[in-house]
Amino acid sequence: MKTYQFRPESIRSLFNHIAPSYDFLNHLLSLRQDIYWRKRAVQELKGFKGWILDIATGTGDGAIELIKQDGPLRKVFGIDFSEPMIRRAQKKMTQKDLFKNIFLGLGDALALPFKEGIFSAAFIAFGLRNIMRKEEALSEMVRVLKRGGKVVVLEFTFPQKGAMSWFFSFYIKKILPRIGGLLSRNKGAYAYLPESILRFQKIEDYKDLMIGAGLVEISVFPLTGGIVAILSGIKP
Ligand SMILES: C[S@@+](CC[C@H](N)C(=O)[O-])C[C@H]1O[C@@H](n2cnc3c(N)ncnc32)[C@H](O)[C@@H]1O
Repeated sequence: MKTYQFRPESIRSLFNHIAPSYDFLNHLLSLRQDIYWRKRAVQELKGFKGWILDIATGTGDGAIELIKQDGPLRKVFGIDFSEPMIRRAQKKMTQKDLFKNIFLGLGDALALPFKEGIFSAAFIAFGLRNIMRKEEALSEMVRVLKRGGKVVVLEFTFPQKGAMSWFFSFYIKKILPRIGGLLSRNKGAYAYLPESILRFQKIEDYKDLMIGAGLVEISVFPLTGGIVAILSGIKP
């Protein structure tokens, strides 16, 4: 069994491996809640026009949602460091005829290939957890934003108490790796997922990182009993 560490090369290799089954398993393992979570997170950018950056775009669902909501007012650039994930996103954009609105490219969240101050907003869904140097990634987002631009982060968090905390812990440690490993034929990848959630669990940690990256007016919105949170902040 191939196991995955938290090094960037290892993370990239993980997503290269699971790219073909990513969408199917994502919807199945989250009981299709991922669609609602992304939709709700994108609503935080209501009224933000112009160029929006979708970092760690993966198979492009966040980028598509950004166009679905407020489409005529914006263009989206989706970036990811896994070529197989970007290829799947490209296929979707062709099928949905979204190539005029969504542009895709290979690139690292830690060294965004853009000049500073060009985007109105930056969006990252289920990506930050996979990046070791999180504050650096957030600082890169802030660098490419215009003043007054908004960063929105959607990420798994760990419910701190109550029945949901017990259930979530059981689900991600025992059930999710089994189903994910079986269906993706990649046990290592779906053993990594719970570990990555458990390792960086608190909403407060994400909030502190956003403040550290220079964002202000931070807002936090937990969803589904605290399994997931939307955090946002403004570049002053
Ligand atoms: C869990 S997927 C999320 C995909 C998509 N945003 C979504 O909502 O489904 C995480 C993505 O982050 C990408 N990723 C992880 N680290 C990255 C980095 N340093 N730079 C760019 N992409 C990265 C992976 O390749 C993967 O496609």
